[in-house]
Amino acid sequence: MKNKKLPVLNKHKILIGNWKMNKVYNEIEHFFVEFNRLYRKNKMIKMAHDTVMIAPTFIGLLPALSYAKKGMQIIAQDAHYEKNGAFTGRVSWRQLKEYNVNGAIIGHSEIRSQLAESDATINKKVLGLVNNDMLAVLCIGESLKEFNNKKTAVVLEKQITAALKDFDHNKADKLIVAYEPIWAIGTGKTATDSIIEKSINVIKRQLEKTLGKVHAHKVKVLYGGSANESNAKQILKIANVDGLLIGGASLDHEKFIKILKSTPNYRKVKASINAAKSSKSKKKAK
Ligand code: PGA
Repeated sequence: MKNKKLPVLNKHKILIGNWKMNKVYNEIEHFFVEFNRLYRKNKMIKMAHDTVMIAPTFIGLLPALSYAKKGMQIIAQDAHYEKNGAFTGRVSWRQLKEYNVNGAIIGHSEIRSQLAESDATINKKVLGLVNNDMLAVLCIGESLKEFNNKKTAVVLEKQITAALKDFDHNKADKLIVAYEPIWAIGTGKTATDSIIEKSINVIKRQLEKTLGKVHAHKVKVLYGGSANESNAKQILKIANVDGLLIGGASLDHEKFIKILKSTPNYRKVKASINAAKSSKSKKKAK
């Protein structure tokens, strides 16, 4: 089929797999060998132009880079804001960049809570990345208590303001924000469509206030929290959702491929290919 018959695919979705502290070398190899096989077999995934990223552990970055297909990006789960220095156990943005890892997840709630990471540290990490032309995937979200007390909007606005202090507006295309309600992460309790839509509206409005309308529109805002192969299609239908940050379901290549097939772009490509096939076979039959 010729490209010009394809629908205009300007609203691509971003899908990021956060592998957390999972997979050893042979499991990483297995994931990519199987994923690449399914990916190669299904040209429509490539044609959909959706952006796909995987964030393995630091030790998994190099094997992931060696197996990842062209078109798939490998990012880290964190990045220290200093270039180098006396920071035992950390990895800097510069070290990642040297290995062609050009982005990192920042401010994940598990790091915020388990390592007592402050808003000020998150801000430095975001700036460390974007000011060096790397991608920052900033995670924000409210706790269950905050949600029950109807504090979601206040929390999201505060987290954005703190994380983006001194942010150079011209770097907006290097920023992705992931709305991850803490109570939805790893619990199987996905936020409802209306909660997701409302919270992402709050985030987009706050980004406009912080960065200005023009720059804010360059920032993609994703949803994360028990997103999986069964609910991805529904979540991606929500008008203001620009993609998904997926934990558990991204560990399984089959589930991850199913999620890739849930994007509106993929479905548009598939529908237009099927339409072209059926008109071809009708012509043949005549
Ligand atoms: P989950 O994790 O999909 O397993 O809920 C999401 C995340 O923590 O980024």
